[in-house]
Amino acid sequence: MSSPSVLLIGSGGYVGHFVSEQCLRNRSRLRRLAILTTEEKRSKFSDIEARGMEIVLGPFDSPESFKGFDTVICMLGNHAMKRQPAIIDAAVSAGVNEFYPSEFGSDISQGGYLTNRYFRDKQVTRRHLVEMAKRVPEFNYTYLLTGGFAEFALEPIFGTDIEKHTFTFYGTPDKQEPFTAIRDVSKYLVESLFLPKSPTQERQFRVIGGLYAWGDIIDMVERIQEVKYTHTYLPQQAAVDAAAECAKKGDVDGELAFSLKALMGDTKEIGVPKPWDNDKFDIEPEGLEDSLKRFFGERKGSKICLL
Ligand SMILES: NC(=O)c1ccc[n+]([C@@H]2O[C@H](COP(=O)([O-])OP(=O)(O)OC[C@H]3O[C@@H](n4cnc5c(N)ncnc54)[C@H](OP(=O)(O)O)[C@@H]3O)[C@@H](O)[C@H]2O)c1
Repeated sequence: MSSPSVLLIGSGGYVGHFVSEQCLRNRSRLRRLAILTTEEKRSKFSDIEARGMEIVLGPFDSPESFKGFDTVICMLGNHAMKRQPAIIDAAVSAGVNEFYPSEFGSDISQGGYLTNRYFRDKQVTRRHLVEMAKRVPEFNYTYLLTGGFAEFALEPIFGTDIEKHTFTFYGTPDKQEPFTAIRDVSKYLVESLFLPKSPTQERQFRVIGGLYAWGDIIDMVERIQEVKYTHTYLPQQAAVDAAAECAKKGDVDGELAFSLKALMGDTKEIGVPKPWDNDKFDIEPEGLEDSLKRFFGERKGSKICLL
């Protein structure tokens, strides 16, 4: 088993927090482990640095920042995702031969995900990875596809209001969606570092906590909160029309939100269709009802508790 030398980008974010902690737990299995950040952001990482995480200071687009690492895990959020092609160029120039792009969600190589506005910058990154792999035969990249995070299942964008106890969905109650708890996402990611490379330069791990119908999810929430919800199921086409209307008015946030709702309600689209790769890992994922119990238990005000 090889011992990778791993550089993390976007460690201060939601995914980054869990993945950094999981990497640190596995520190002895890694040749080197560091977070790439800049001097201005360094203080954000003082706690984890004190617990043994190396901090590398430098710009994301300079090969100098990547010297000495073979693996980069990028966890940038939606607003910074467009920086990934420049990061890949710099990393490969410095000798990085394994890149995990910021994915951690649905399989965007299928159906409506290919053209949905929400995933545009992820698609640009994917195309860049393919081109880079053609030019550099020793370069590999890995997609970790986990479906939605269990902790995000009740986000208002998916139609749930956990204060007003309402659920509004542009589709039918039997529409299914895959969900995985963020702690399991970070475990799968770190364990994948030690699995064999694929014979092709692209490797994918489709690892899912479970597939759940929205009607069943709201039943779980009702049991946990001990309250009945008002369920409203609207035609999926209404979300498609609302997204188009927002686009016409130049309302980008509205367009993104409704295009995502339309995708969620479309019965042809299952975020990560089978086959899944769970059996390649010795990990028992948490079921959604347990994740949601934890979510409500950890919730402070309306914020998700990260610690
Ligand atoms: N499947 C799901 O349900 C789900 C849910 C959430 C996220 N995700 C995916 O997970 C990935 C990470 O998302 P996230 O929610 O963890 O991201 P996030 O918390 O919004 O941001 C992650 C990090 O990106 C960097 N960043 C953000 N905006 C930036 C900017 N304008 N300039 C420079 N850096 C910036 C910051 O890095 P530093 O900390 O280093 O400053 C930030 O901590 C994304 O691919 C996202 O789509 C999936």
